[in-house]
Amino acid sequence: MNSCERPYPDLHEHLQSLKAQGLLLSIDRRIDKDSELHPLVRWQFVGGLAEKDRKAFLFTNITDGQGRRYEIPVVVGAIAANPQIYSIGMGAPVAEIGGKWQRAIANPIPPRLVDRGVCQEVVIEGEALSGAGKGLDLLPIPISTPGFDSAPTLTATNVITRDPETGVQNMGTYRAALKASDRLVLRMATRVGGAGGYLHYLSHQKRGERFMPCAIVLGCPPFVAFMGPQKLPIGMDEIEVAGGLAGAPIQVVRARSVPLLVPAESEIVIEGLIDTEFVEPEAPFGESHGHVALEEYNMPMQVSAITMRRDPVIPSYISQLAPSESSVIKKIAYEPLFLSHLRDALGIRGVKKVSLHEPLTGLLRVVIVTLERGMPRTEVWRALRSAAFFKGDCGKITIAVDDDIAPENADALLWALAYRANPVEDVAILPHRGEGHGPKRESEGGEDSTLLIDATMKGKMPPLALPKREYMERAKAIWEELGLPLLRPQEPWHGYSLGDWLQVWDEAASRAVRGLYLENGRISAKERRRGLKPETKFRPDRARPATERG
Ligand SMILES: Cc1cc2nc3c(=O)[nH]c(=O)nc-3n(C[C@H](O)[C@H](O)[C@H](O)COP(=O)(O)O)c2cc1C
Repeated sequence: MNSCERPYPDLHEHLQSLKAQGLLLSIDRRIDKDSELHPLVRWQFVGGLAEKDRKAFLFTNITDGQGRRYEIPVVVGAIAANPQIYSIGMGAPVAEIGGKWQRAIANPIPPRLVDRGVCQEVVIEGEALSGAGKGLDLLPIPISTPGFDSAPTLTATNVITRDPETGVQNMGTYRAALKASDRLVLRMATRVGGAGGYLHYLSHQKRGERFMPCAIVLGCPPFVAFMGPQKLPIGMDEIEVAGGLAGAPIQVVRARSVPLLVPAESEIVIEGLIDTEFVEPEAPFGESHGHVALEEYNMPMQVSAITMRRDPVIPSYISQLAPSESSVIKKIAYEPLFLSHLRDALGIRGVKKVSLHEPLTGLLRVVIVTLERGMPRTEVWRALRSAAFFKGDCGKITIAVDDDIAPENADALLWALAYRANPVEDVAILPHRGEGHGPKRESEGGEDSTLLIDATMKGKMPPLALPKREYMERAKAIWEELGLPLLRPQEPWHGYSLGDWLQVWDEAASRAVRGLYLENGRISAKERRRGLKPETKFRPDRARPATERG
């Protein structure tokens, strides 16, 4: 489906793949981009649908709050409404995405500069940028959180800036609020671990350069789009890692009015100069930490050109309260980085998985580290500390669990905390954490702290009290034969050993299910004792002391 010279899909081709797999809904009914579009897509995140049933929505008949009609369609959810959609863009099954990220980061491929790109089929410059119905005002940019947001805001961006010292470009997904047909205000996070583009802004300021060239790209080929939210080391050019994902150089063209290279196959490029001297109020805007970001000063950009394909599609990310498209993109991108840091860079071999908790908490606050059973306590704590401090803005609450605890299941986490952690010895609270991404002023003085909890088993425990797997499976077959309501098994749905269990008890249970309980009664009769307090432990395995906790 891709062009012969280009072994990676652009957004148009990606949408065709989604459609072919039943993952793209085309909405041809009139939709108001300012008040209806995002709320409609939001229902698939708050309406009780399973994650796998989420789709991308392509809106082809768009109006705005004033009844104006727009030619350009908008697509929401096309990059990551769910992991399956992400995996189509990644060209890899969901289970292999983490490995693909790791290989691409280790083997980046520099981009190829080409003379022409579809992203410049149409060029809007000069006078054509200013005035109602012109420039940015031509674009159907949706309002994300109607009722709270103060502007249509670009969300599915790849914002390109260049380090004035090294010449290396950075690409980040940052929001940008429309302010005029030729002006918008970008928000780049200034916190530690925030936006790479902000470091470029500071360098320009330091050099006394008032304006920073910037290109805001909408609708990149998916391999490039995935780079926007990815957190790579400072100074690493994301377009090279996109090449690593594609297995081939990404084609770039020179932007028309700023000295930057932009992906040739993108849908729309908004070029301009960011003022590093003046700031302008931006927001309120519903943020990915799940609260509304209140008004704050951010970076105004004067638009110098808008270039686009003849038939562009504008992507918009649904973000705000997790789960959302934004949290799916970040979860899939960030988790492999944590795993490889702990397991490969730090050599904590027993780390099986690192999970960023998604619903409501929005990934950055709660990190769950799944560990192999029986790891030395010192290694458990190394894993906890390393996960909590790998990024400046992630891991405020970091919990270590065993591999039978489903990290995405908050009930299971509470279960682990309730039975496997002793607060007085398994909890540490450390001061001096950056405030992180969240509503400001949640902690006095701009500092937060870190909560580490070792909720792994400290020794053997008795089995989980549910029928063993084989009995539950047999019963499930009967359930289905009876035509009872569809089952959706929830972990844990069968009992299993947690280490403290004896062969003789297995044998007794086996006799019991075969109807031979009288035999068990004969065996226990022989063990009758005089003078012991009821509830005194009895270990029929004579080889092991009766007091053993296992
Ligand atoms: C939908 C979405 C919106 C985002 N908005 C912003 C934003 O406005 N400002 C920001 O600094 N980061 C934002 N992020 C997070 C950054 O994209 C992320 O931190 C990324 O690593 C930035 O790239 P960089 O490290 O090259 O700066 C957003 C992420 C997503 C998925």
